Amino acid sequence: MAEMPILTIDGPSGSGKGTVAARVAGVLGWHLLDSGALYRLVGHAVRKAEADFADSAAIVDLARNLSVDFVDGKVLLDGEDVSLAIRTEAAGNNASKVAAIPQVRSALLDWQRDYARSPGLVADGRDMGTVVFPEAGVKIFLDASAEERARRRYKQLKDKGIDVNLIGLIAEIEERDHRDRNRSVAPLVPADDALVIDSTEMDVDAVIERVLRAVYEAYPETRV
Ligand code: DC
Repeated sequence: MAEMPILTIDGPSGSGKGTVAARVAGVLGWHLLDSGALYRLVGHAVRKAEADFADSAAIVDLARNLSVDFVDGKVLLDGEDVSLAIRTEAAGNNASKVAAIPQVRSALLDWQRDYARSPGLVADGRDMGTVVFPEAGVKIFLDASAEERARRRYKQLKDKGIDVNLIGLIAEIEERDHRDRNRSVAPLVPADDALVIDSTEMDVDAVIERVLRAVYEAYPETRV
């Protein structure tokens, strides 16, 4: 059993990982690592520097020298509030591109591992259970069909007043999935010891209940 209680939640975009991770961390009173935000920040820095997404050396340099602050629920990059800018579909796609570069992934490794602090950590991403926290006591792989994930994302964006096209969204999600699942380093795959949950037909409360049950089984002392 790992010393520090760690729950990893990996899965493709739109699987509901973010919502589940945040709510479970809230219930347990554990820290939360949104690792996708770090890749989104690198993607944003590339855009801001007007660097080329094909120029790996420039991207690695930016990743190694990111100046990020988290203040009052906001994310600041070089002092600029980018909380909303990194949440767009385009930012997700740029994140997926920089995330395929091995040296970018290693530049972010220690930063991510630093989040493992008492009383525990919920880590949300693609390689949390396989690469970043292989010692985690509970590993979840949250999946759902591409159509269902696109539908959820469509609703989220519509609710925020952002105009989107469902067919375009399905194509974007499939493109991003393909890149994330087929890259040479840390591809999106369930860890051998992960509990795979297909949430296509489940609501978020049912998923949270299932995840909490797994946490209480692995770490009985955390039951609230
Ligand atoms: O979870 P998200 O949508 O914010 O992630 C954005 C992209 O970042 C995702 O398409 C792939 C990449 N990513 C990654 O490669 N590894 C992680 N642990 C988290 C995200």
